[in-house]
Amino acid sequence: MEQINRSQKMQDFARKSRHGGKSIALVPTMGFLHEGHLELMRRARKNADLVVVSIFVNPIQFGPGEDLDRYPRDLEGDLDKCKKVGVDVVFTPTPEDLYPEHFQTSVAVSEITKVLCGASRPGHFQGVTTVVAKLFNITLPDFAFFGEKDFQQLAVIRRMVIDLNFPLKIIGVPIVREKDGLAMSSRNAYLSDKERAAAPELYKALTCARELFAQGCKDCEKLCRAVSEQLDKNIETDFKIEYIEIYDSSNLTVLEGTITTAATILIAAHFGKTRLIDNLQL
Ligand code: PAJ
Repeated sequence: MEQINRSQKMQDFARKSRHGGKSIALVPTMGFLHEGHLELMRRARKNADLVVVSIFVNPIQFGPGEDLDRYPRDLEGDLDKCKKVGVDVVFTPTPEDLYPEHFQTSVAVSEITKVLCGASRPGHFQGVTTVVAKLFNITLPDFAFFGEKDFQQLAVIRRMVIDLNFPLKIIGVPIVREKDGLAMSSRNAYLSDKERAAAPELYKALTCARELFAQGCKDCEKLCRAVSEQLDKNIETDFKIEYIEIYDSSNLTVLEGTITTAATILIAAHFGKTRLIDNLQL
C-alpha cells in the first residue's frame, strides 16, 4: 500500500494507472475510519483494479462553531485498517495542497442542498461538492463509493456528477450499524456514556415508523409524529430533534400527505453537543 500526500503526485499516479488499462475506485473519507468506511472499501475492492482512499478533514465543509478543531483523527490506525482491507493508495493531502493561496473556485448544487442538513448547515454541501469534485479530478476514478448514511450528500453528489458530466459511476452503500442499531459514525466518539446509551433510540424510532408504514399508515405527518413522540418518551438525556422528514427516495423531494412512492424517513438530532443523522427506507 502506498501513501501519497501531494495532489500532483496522486494525479500522475492515477493517469499512469488509467493509461495502463487499470480501473480506479475512489472512497473519499475524513478518516477516523470505522466499519462503515471499511465496507465502502470492500465494495470498491470488488469493483476495480485499484482502490484509492482519500483521508482529508475538509475545512471548507465545516461552518463556524462546528467541530473542525476537535474532529477525531487517527492516521496511523486508519492506514493500518486500509492496509488490512487491501487498499492500494491512501491519499492524504494537506489543506495547503488542496486550498493553496488564491484558491477561489467552488462547485455548488443549488436546490437539493437547501433542505434537511443544508438548512441548518449553510455552505456545508458546497464545501463537500467542491472537495469531491477536486478529488475526482485528482484521482480520476471510474467508480466512487459513498454511504447511504449521508443520504442527502449521496443525492447531492449524484446530481453534481450528472450535471457536470463527470465520467464516473457513483455507487451508494447501505448504512453499517452497531449491534444496537446506531448508525456508525466518526462523531459517535463524542458521545458521553449516557448519550451513547440513548443514541440507538433514533434507529428504533425509525424502525417503528417503518412498521407503522407496513401496517398501512401512509400519512407523512402521522409517521413523523410517531417518531418524535417515541423519542421524547424514551430519551432522558439532553436531546433535541432538528428534523424528521420523509423524502422521495429517488430524487430527494419532500413528501407530504399520503405516500405513494418509494420513500425514506430522515432524522437529525442533537445529543448534547453531538449532532447525529440517520435514515431508513420505509
Ligand atoms: P465521512 O463522514 O468520513 O464519510 C466518508 C464516507 O463514509 C461517506 O460516503 C459516508 O456516507 C460513509 N459512511 C459513514 N458512516 C457510514 C455508515 N455507518 N455506513 C455506511 N457508510 C458510511 O462524508 C464525508 O466523510 C465527507 O463529507 C466527504 C464525502 C469525505 C467529503 O469531505
